[in-house]
Amino acid sequence: MSALGPVTAVAHANIALAKYWGKAKDDENLPAVPSLSLTLAALSTTTSVVLRPELESDAVSLDGEAAAPRARERVIRVLDDIRTLSGSSARAAVESSNDFPTAAGLASSASGFAALAVAAARAYGLAMEPADLSAIARRASASAARSVFGGFVELRAGKEAAAPVLGGQDFPLVMLIAVTARGPKSIGSTEGMRHTRETSPYYPAWLSAAPPVFERARAAVLARDLEALGTAMEESALMMHASMLSARPAIIYFAPATLAVVECVRGLRKTGTPAFFTMDAGPHVKVLTAPGTAPAVEQALSAVPGVERVIASRAGGAAALVGGA
Ligand code: DP6
Repeated sequence: MSALGPVTAVAHANIALAKYWGKAKDDENLPAVPSLSLTLAALSTTTSVVLRPELESDAVSLDGEAAAPRARERVIRVLDDIRTLSGSSARAAVESSNDFPTAAGLASSASGFAALAVAAARAYGLAMEPADLSAIARRASASAARSVFGGFVELRAGKEAAAPVLGGQDFPLVMLIAVTARGPKSIGSTEGMRHTRETSPYYPAWLSAAPPVFERARAAVLARDLEALGTAMEESALMMHASMLSARPAIIYFAPATLAVVECVRGLRKTGTPAFFTMDAGPHVKVLTAPGTAPAVEQALSAVPGVERVIASRAGGAAALVGGA
C-alpha cells in the first residue's frame, strides 16, 4: 500500500576510485567501463516524497528551489519507473536537500537519485531489493547506482545495478575533499562523456585501459592495500582526464589550484605520507589517506593557495529510509 504521508530517505555521495566515463548505450544509461567507489559519510542528501494525486504534474524542489528542467526530467524518470512498477499514476511532490554546499560544485546527483529511488519506492508502496533500487537510480545517473550501497561499491560495465565490494569499516580510510576556487562553469558529466566519445582519439584507449585499472583497484581494496589502491586510483583519474583533454574542443576541468593540490599530494608522498588524489568533472581534488595521517594531510591541503576549504570524510553507509516508512 502506498504511504499516506511523506517518506524520507538519506543517501551519501560517493567518489569513484576507478572511474566511470562513457556509456555503453545512451538510452539505458549503461556504463561502458567498470567503476569502483567509496561512499562518503560526510556528504549526504535527504529526499522526501509524498503522493499528491490531485497534482497534474510532479512538483520537484531541490535545496528549497524549483528544480531546473534537466534535473526535473531526471527526477520524473525515476518516478515514472516506480509508477510503472507500482501500477499507480499518482503524481508526487519531491523535496531534496544536501548537507553540503552545492554552490561549491560538489556533485549531488549520485546521493540525490539514490535517496529518491529509496524514498519513492516506499511512497508508492513497493518493497524493493537494494539491487533493484540501484538499477532505477542508475537510469537517472549511473554514479547514483553506487550510492545505494555503503562502503566500497562496484558498477560493472554494461550492468544494471551496482554491488557492494567491502564494508567501509573493513578497510578504514579517510577521503579529504579539497574544495578549490571555482573555475569557469564546466560541462556536465553526461554531455562531457558524449563529447569525449564522439571527438577524442584517446577514447578507445580509455575503454581498453579502464577495466584492468578497475581490477587492480578492486584487488587492492580486498587486500586492504592503500598504496596499490592509491596508485590505481590516480592512474584511473588521469587516464579519464586524458581522454577529455584530447577531445575537440578539449574538456578541461582543472583549475590552477587543482594542479597545486596534486603537487602537494605528490610532495607528501615523497616525505613518506600515504596520500593519493583523484578528480572528477570539476576542479576539486579528493585525497585518499589513512586515518592516522589524515590530520597532517588535511593541514597540508588547507595551506595550498586556492584551496577554500577541506571536507574530511570516513566511509558512509547505504541509502536508507529515515522517516515516514
Ligand atoms: C567523473 O554518473 O554523473 O564522476 O550517468 O550521465 O549521470 P550520468 O553521469 P554521472 O558521471 C560520473 C562521472 C564521474 C566518475 C564517476 O563517478 O565514476
